[in-house]
Amino acid sequence: MNSVRKIAILVGSLRKESISRAFANGLIGLAPPSLGAEIVEIGDLPLYDQDLDGAAPPAAWAAFRERLRAADGFLFVTPEYNRSIPAPLKNALDVGSRPYGQSAWAGRPGAVVSLSPGALGGFGANHHLRQCLVFLDVPALAQPEVYLSHADKALDGGKIADARVREFLAKFMVTFAQWVESHARKA
Ligand code: FNR
Repeated sequence: MNSVRKIAILVGSLRKESISRAFANGLIGLAPPSLGAEIVEIGDLPLYDQDLDGAAPPAAWAAFRERLRAADGFLFVTPEYNRSIPAPLKNALDVGSRPYGQSAWAGRPGAVVSLSPGALGGFGANHHLRQCLVFLDVPALAQPEVYLSHADKALDGGKIADARVREFLAKFMVTFAQWVESHARKA
């Protein structure tokens, strides 16, 4: 039997009432038993500054990098800011990618969920993020693509209430689990 794969979920929004965080929590609930998914917080990471990096980096960076290294895969759940990814998420990508040659992202699979209260479902953020993931050596699940438009309407009391959206996301999580398994590190 395969072991449970650890998934680090990165949420692109920092606000308390975030739609993205609500979906991230919903996705944890929809994950098949082969995935153990947890949100890894990015809000307390100091802005990346190479002058601070090296033997004694900020404690928050070191802890974050350890969490990434322990993960078997990454799930990004993000809104779109100005047709790109929010700055805290880009900062998290950068912090995890350094020091040079010691990236904490490399070689593990990922998947991207973008969303918006608007009609485009965060398409721009989704694909800017995918561009970064290519360089970070995080192979991103190609299909199904997940652009959740009018995402706020699918929620009720912070839960994913829309049955069609739930069904779609549950299938997405099964496909993601297969993607993670197909990239699993050999023990
Ligand atoms: C936005 N929003 C937004 N929406 C969108 O579909 N495309 C965009 O380019 C932007 N740009 C943007 C920039 C900034 C600075 C903010 C604060 C917001 C709206 C955004 O989708 C909306 O606020 C979401 O609710 C944010 O996600 P969370 O915080 O609810 O997860």
